[in-house]
Amino acid sequence: MIELKNTSLLRCSILFLMISCSLYLDAQVTIVPAPVSVKMSKGEFTITPQTTFILEGSNLENSVAFFNDYLQKNYGFQLKTSGKHSKGNSIVLNYERLDKNIPGAYNLQVNGKEIYIAGDNEEGVFYGIQTLIQLLPIKKSSSLNIPQLSIEDYPRFEYRGMHLDVARHIFSADYVKKYIDWLALHKINKFHWHLTDDQGWRIEIKKYPKLTETGSCRNQTLVGRYGSDTYDGTPYCGYYTQEQVKEIVQYAAKRYITVIPEIDIPGHTVAALTSYPYLGCSKGPYKVMETWGVSPDVLCAGNDSTYTFVENVLDEVMKLFPAPYIHIGGDECPKENWKTCPVCQKKIRDEQLKDEHELQSYFTKRIEKFVNSKGKKIIGWDEILEGGLAPNAVIMSWRGEAGGIAAARQNHYVIMTPENPLYINHSQTRNEDSVTQGQYNPIENVYNYDPVPKELTVQQAKYIMGAQGNMWSEYLDNEKKLEYMLFPRLAAVAEVLWTAKQNKNWNEFEKRLPAILNRYAFQGINYSTAYYDLQPSVTQISNGIIGWKLDARKQDGHIIYVTDSTMNATKTYSGPVMIDKTGNYGAALTDNDNKIVSNWVWQHFNLNLATGKPIRLITPPNKNYSVGGSFSLVDGIQNEKGMLRSAQFLGFNGKDMEAVIDLGAEQTISEIVLHAFEQKGSWIYKPAAVSFFSSNDGINFQPIEVPVIVAGTKNLLYSALTTTRTRYIKVLAKNNGIIATGEPGAGNPSWLFADEIEVK
Ligand code: ACM
Ligand code: ZN
Repeated sequence: MIELKNTSLLRCSILFLMISCSLYLDAQVTIVPAPVSVKMSKGEFTITPQTTFILEGSNLENSVAFFNDYLQKNYGFQLKTSGKHSKGNSIVLNYERLDKNIPGAYNLQVNGKEIYIAGDNEEGVFYGIQTLIQLLPIKKSSSLNIPQLSIEDYPRFEYRGMHLDVARHIFSADYVKKYIDWLALHKINKFHWHLTDDQGWRIEIKKYPKLTETGSCRNQTLVGRYGSDTYDGTPYCGYYTQEQVKEIVQYAAKRYITVIPEIDIPGHTVAALTSYPYLGCSKGPYKVMETWGVSPDVLCAGNDSTYTFVENVLDEVMKLFPAPYIHIGGDECPKENWKTCPVCQKKIRDEQLKDEHELQSYFTKRIEKFVNSKGKKIIGWDEILEGGLAPNAVIMSWRGEAGGIAAARQNHYVIMTPENPLYINHSQTRNEDSVTQGQYNPIENVYNYDPVPKELTVQQAKYIMGAQGNMWSEYLDNEKKLEYMLFPRLAAVAEVLWTAKQNKNWNEFEKRLPAILNRYAFQGINYSTAYYDLQPSVTQISNGIIGWKLDARKQDGHIIYVTDSTMNATKTYSGPVMIDKTGNYGAALTDNDNKIVSNWVWQHFNLNLATGKPIRLITPPNKNYSVGGSFSLVDGIQNEKGMLRSAQFLGFNGKDMEAVIDLGAEQTISEIVLHAFEQKGSWIYKPAAVSFFSSNDGINFQPIEVPVIVAGTKNLLYSALTTTRTRYIKVLAKNNGIIATGEPGAGNPSWLFADEIEVK
């Protein structure tokens, strides 16, 4: 064996901890997740339809079947299995004692005569096969050359999870299998299947047929982003029969993936309540939810019949899923109803509980006892820490890492799934043109996550079983969208879970990423090209002149742009594009052959007398909604599409917005406009009042005509027509104050969201 790349050898000798060195520079070797060690040799081995499998160990048929299935789908042929000692071009599968802590280790060797894969168990051999798949060329052929090499590999974490919510949107059983195949290709071994929620109950329960007769249907679905208050008027239904569930569980098992079902209780249960209203505190009637978010309606935790229901449901569920764990949710359970429900209050008294948090803890512990009595353990979201942890529960830490840290310190096992950055349903680009959950979670954020918090001691860190990427489906209303969100971030999740810490390196990953994307394309996957997207921002070139700045994450190739929508004349970018007229501007990234590799980013700029002028805020915005600072009020960009794009707004929590713009010289103006926003569901309320003022010294201000709302119910536009000579303009938007009873967020301070100020 020789090292191919001298540069890599050099790097290895400097960074002695970096065991794997040269692989990432070899065009063909772009394995995800990156293995522990790869040593390249000279020469190749060729797989043809005459190549045979030789099984030196028993029970290796799953690996053979997966490989043959992959070959058939992508190259149109399969391999036969031949007798133990036949000679010739072959793939030998075997077991070897590899003595690693976590099951799944394997060694893979390719020489001129054979491919040899040895696993420490069936799983290990299977992972060797996944690696082999990634050595295959991405061109259909019946003669597949792979490089000679030697790989040693084993996983970092025992829990390597990926989740899928099928309650908000369901995916067919066949598509779930496809999803499982993708997880297998990335060496993921746990599939967390979120089967029930407010918007739908998706698993057949024989004892409670209404759960699927009634609970699997909602009358209609929200259109657009949460808070749109627009509905499609179309019923949405679907569930998996127990036969389908069994089939999927078996399918996953053949890929060494354990399916962990989640029955989310006691919150997120409106679909169950609609089916059986006796389960709620008010007894209904309830309606399967048509929008997203958190419902105040939850299971009544005082009524013993609730516990009977839950135990009967879990009993059926546990029989369908051989997993040692069952996920019982526990997240986002509002306690208002429990506070006023006499039955819940009686339970609190009878059990000598302190409050409603302890009531949820009582609920969880009681269910845990039942689950434990069946020989299984519960997993719960980190809310189950509140009011006291159930004795044997595993914590899934989603509201950051704090829950996971607290649980590990109490010697409880933990799975890390912090929303930021492991929620894969968040936007991966700032230029997202489809509706997503919002937030910005690009692939490098996912990649750079480390599941072991620095706060833990070595001993406590042993309780971190691993981590998981979560895929919530509110905005995944079709398969292509799911793929677009999943890829290529699944590759990053896989390295978080599998790759040895010393081999995890974003810069190396970035080098492999183009080849990884090409492999996804070969496999017919609808992956996102967001990685290549330009990062636009607006800068002030000089007083009153703004520029459009474009950054590329990928440094080779070049940026092109156009200054109108006709795209007639593309120019090559060399620095911020001066915005000298109102209109659309577009930009994209090309490779060195001038082929466009990114999506186009488009921006409409609206120039007026205030654009790019100095602006001063009397009260600073809330730091969470302050991107761009005061400049964002005069940057020429207005919020469009009636959707909350929070990066475009300044947000003031309970405070007024007061801004002063200096136009530079006294002049006659004809109109002032303030753009604001209202989305009550997010506690954003329109200003209580808006007023405009003029001044020639910036100190003494006189009121101008009272503005009126001229547009919108969400995107609000306050305009005052005037004929005023002035140099300074002051805009004052009074906050709505404490939110009134009966409105979303009642009792809390209102948010005030302000966008552009225009002066004409
Ligand atoms: C969650 O995202 N509610 C677990
Ligand atoms: Zn109750």
